[in-house]
Amino acid sequence: MMTKTEDTNLFSMVAGALCALLLAVASTGCIGDIDDSEDPVATGDGDNTPPPGDGDGDNPDNTPPPPQGLTVSGMVMDYASANAVPPLINGIDGATVETAGITPLLSATTDIGGAYSLLNVPPNSIVNATVLTPGDLYRPTFNNANTLVTQAVADLNFYGVTNNFVNDNTLVTTGAAPLPLSSVVFADMIRPDGSPMTGVPLANVTLTHAVGAPVGAGPYFFDPGINRLDPLLLESPLTDTRLGFVNVPTGQYTLTVLDPGIDLIDPADDVTYTVAISTADDGATLTQVGELVAGGGPPPPGPIPGNLTFTADIYPLLQATLNGGDGCADCHTAGGVAEANIQMDLAPEIVYNEMLNRAGVIVALPDELPTLPSKPLYEDPPNHANATYPPRPLVLPDPPVAVDGYDIMMAWIEQGYPL
Ligand code: HEC
Repeated sequence: MMTKTEDTNLFSMVAGALCALLLAVASTGCIGDIDDSEDPVATGDGDNTPPPGDGDGDNPDNTPPPPQGLTVSGMVMDYASANAVPPLINGIDGATVETAGITPLLSATTDIGGAYSLLNVPPNSIVNATVLTPGDLYRPTFNNANTLVTQAVADLNFYGVTNNFVNDNTLVTTGAAPLPLSSVVFADMIRPDGSPMTGVPLANVTLTHAVGAPVGAGPYFFDPGINRLDPLLLESPLTDTRLGFVNVPTGQYTLTVLDPGIDLIDPADDVTYTVAISTADDGATLTQVGELVAGGGPPPPGPIPGNLTFTADIYPLLQATLNGGDGCADCHTAGGVAEANIQMDLAPEIVYNEMLNRAGVIVALPDELPTLPSKPLYEDPPNHANATYPPRPLVLPDPPVAVDGYDIMMAWIEQGYPL
């Protein structure tokens, strides 16, 4: 089964009221406080990292240069300190940041003070990372940052969760008996407009595995200002809208939150948000929930309108980031890493025929999805370099659902894939 993790670049605009408040006090961040300058449809990469290759700058056969890797940097910080009131900047020295879903895996080690730099991140990658530290103070902490990287990012912060925090601030306070090898899952609930998702009853939050069965103990909400899970809170409070689950076995799950909206009575403003997460043995998983879902989330209501054609609707998506596309041709071009796997910037008919001639690209193989839409998605384990689809301006209203290249390609294939 394909799973596509939602793009949470909307989170780049948000930090939530608590974070906003705290940020006014100190320039540290909460989970979800990521690059504000990032524009999901920005095209310039703003990065001067030299492209891989011989580096001598001549280009005898006039082929375009290979795609430029982007630099993603920030701090690795202690989760408890960063979410304390007031927040403390407590960088973790010597931590390893390891990406998930980018092939090949990228890693970096923090310096004294906790700063890290990941080099050569492929454009349009979704950056998630596990923070690993020597010793047993910290748990391996998976940061489901879900940040879509279209240009260099200088302030993507990751966090590590200590065993002490899990024990004292979650297990002791909820009274849950610790289960061996289990994880904690903490999520920030932030609406797409950046406001904290207040007033969500506990019953509206579930963590489930594939068949819908609940996993773990919870949900619980965090006590505002005290930074610990409190089983007495029956709905998400005003200032701290983080939730937590404890005793979550290792696996892959869906976190679902039904937001009752500003008007708690009126069903018209209710929105359901989901996020795919994974947990590791004795780990911690940090995520956010509350953005509009594109791709593998709930299907858009009804078909995507219009008679889609390859030339008008698909081909433009395949072009290089600098040409307004989703970045496929950054690699799928003469001289690019996927030169042998369909050059996507040749004339539309040539690209179209090449795709039709290759088994499984447009016409799916039995029991598989066509690779044209499915290959570039974020998957675990990944089956493709971790390129992904930025959200497209086409947003179907009521309820609002973002549409991306995956939805558009799937709709085009279902409509009979005309040229
Ligand atoms: C960072 C580089 C990179 C980007 C960006 C990229 N790809 Fe690829 N793609 C590859 C590589 C390398 C292969 C061959 C290895 C593999 O199959 O994973 C490939 C293979 C494929 C294949 C299989 C082709 C065949 O030979 O059957 C398809 C389809 C595909 N990519 C579609 C896309 C689409 C659509 C996009 C844009 C949304 C995209 N790719 C973006 C690197 C990339």
